[in-house]
Amino acid sequence: MARILITSALPYINGIKHLGNLVGSQLPADLYARYMRARGHEVLFLCATDEHGTPAELAAAKTGEPVADYCARLHAEQSRLAEGFRLSFDKYGRSSSPQNHALTQHFAGRLWEAGLIEERTESQVYSNADGRFLPDRYIEGTCPNCGYERARGDQCENCTKQLDPTDLIDPRSAISGSTDLEVRETKHLYLLQSKMRGALNDWIDGTTDWPILTTSIARKWLNDGEGLQDRGITRDLSWGVPVRRGTEPWPGMEGKVFYVWFDAPIEYIACAAEWAEEQGLPDAAWERWWRTERGADDVRYVQFMGKDNVPFHTLSFPVTILGSGEDWKLVDYIKAFNYLNYDGGQFSTSQGRGVFMDQALEILPADYWRWWLLSHAPETGDSEFTWENFQSSVNKDLADVLGNFVSRVTKFCRSKFGEAVPEGEYGAAEEALIEDLARRLAAYQGHLEAIEVRKAAAELRAIWVAGNEYLQAAAPWAAFKEDPARAAATIRLSLNLIRFYALISRPFVPDAADIMLRALRAPDAEWPEDVSAALRALPAGHAFDVPDVLFRKIADDERAEWQQRFSGDR
Ligand code: 2FM
Ligand code: ZN
Repeated sequence: MARILITSALPYINGIKHLGNLVGSQLPADLYARYMRARGHEVLFLCATDEHGTPAELAAAKTGEPVADYCARLHAEQSRLAEGFRLSFDKYGRSSSPQNHALTQHFAGRLWEAGLIEERTESQVYSNADGRFLPDRYIEGTCPNCGYERARGDQCENCTKQLDPTDLIDPRSAISGSTDLEVRETKHLYLLQSKMRGALNDWIDGTTDWPILTTSIARKWLNDGEGLQDRGITRDLSWGVPVRRGTEPWPGMEGKVFYVWFDAPIEYIACAAEWAEEQGLPDAAWERWWRTERGADDVRYVQFMGKDNVPFHTLSFPVTILGSGEDWKLVDYIKAFNYLNYDGGQFSTSQGRGVFMDQALEILPADYWRWWLLSHAPETGDSEFTWENFQSSVNKDLADVLGNFVSRVTKFCRSKFGEAVPEGEYGAAEEALIEDLARRLAAYQGHLEAIEVRKAAAELRAIWVAGNEYLQAAAPWAAFKEDPARAAATIRLSLNLIRFYALISRPFVPDAADIMLRALRAPDAEWPEDVSAALRALPAGHAFDVPDVLFRKIADDERAEWQQRFSGDR
């Protein structure tokens, strides 16, 4: 039995996430966590909301709520949706937690002592009317490059030029519109990432089994120098982790907070501490997942994220960890994803284009989405959601293949043999199927262990199809008259196959799997290691119930209506 620490990238707090976000980290992480638990491993699966920074402050300003209230409300909303999608986090934490405050300040103190943080004085725009500095998006003005009048302090939306707030012509505060601005000197902290280049290189060189998508991004940033530039890790904002050196105040940094990308990954650690506290466990319980000298040496740590997050997890966060000089666990494997596009374009939050997590659950149960998203995960390149493809996957894979098998077998048995597993001797056809399934199960397990999500889904589908083909060929409805014993053997095997399907499909479609297991009155079954034994697990005479329809089909007119509804033209 192994110990596996799994984290998913932390979704930003500012709004409900779309299906592209979901399939880019949380959902495949859940698949892996469920599979590893099913195989008997000890798993700690963590995720949290990423709550600091200007996006949170601006989103709260828009709704008129205090930012802390806004974040609490959105966290509750995101948690509810995570449950709705059956994401089996051991803890869904918050980067604004007291644990993350303390740990972030702790790491900053260690990095300072190690000479990896430098104080720098720089010029920044200060608004007298607002009584604050105006970083990034808090300032607007005319673009010096194209003349666009609503350019932001970090970038001009019109010509895409990257800007500094001091570049803008006729600048004004994005909060109050005030033009009573001045440039003031202010102090900020910089993380001297380039000092860690050697250590990072060695670490990345030592990882032999990482996916190409991950290492190619890491090496690009590491080698072209840009990724390892010294990085400002503080901001003039009020919402965030106050700048301190451990528990000591940081002279000259009063009123400033750490930059969101500095504290967010530290929440992976803090989240484990939040989990322990919630469970009423001592600190040692989370430290054995995170501190190598307290047991985390034996842990395999796997991170899931979209490709845009890879530089932060291969460079910045490891700088924090390695630079601290302490015995923190480093990631062992990073599984990165490309993007999911939406129906010929991109998902767009501002245009309401695409399906968001709340809307998805309003129209169909979680399993439908889980199956489509995972079986089309953007692993080797970007992938695309289309309604036609979604409809056909649901109708074929889930309704026609898996759902129909369950309903045909249970209903036929009820009508001919009653609601209990019939007696029946397995023959050559059953043994051939068992052999085929044993081979396929091994392949399926191999793909899940390698986190090859699409390949795993394809193999699972093939396993469902193999059972259907067996049933079709054995045709118990025809055999029943002439050779009822043969028909009984077919049905005995098929009922056992439903149990087998439920167990192995559970990481993909947990609700359907539970319905199947309940119907078979076999709720607590274990992973079917040995296919031959698993297909004999339900003995003759074992009672079952015919379940309700597992998956319904999506009709053409529904599909058209949804396509229209989520197109973003409104
Ligand atoms: O890209 C994002 O959505 C970020 N909120 C991810 C943070 S992941 C981690 F490092 F905290
Ligand atoms: Zn411009």
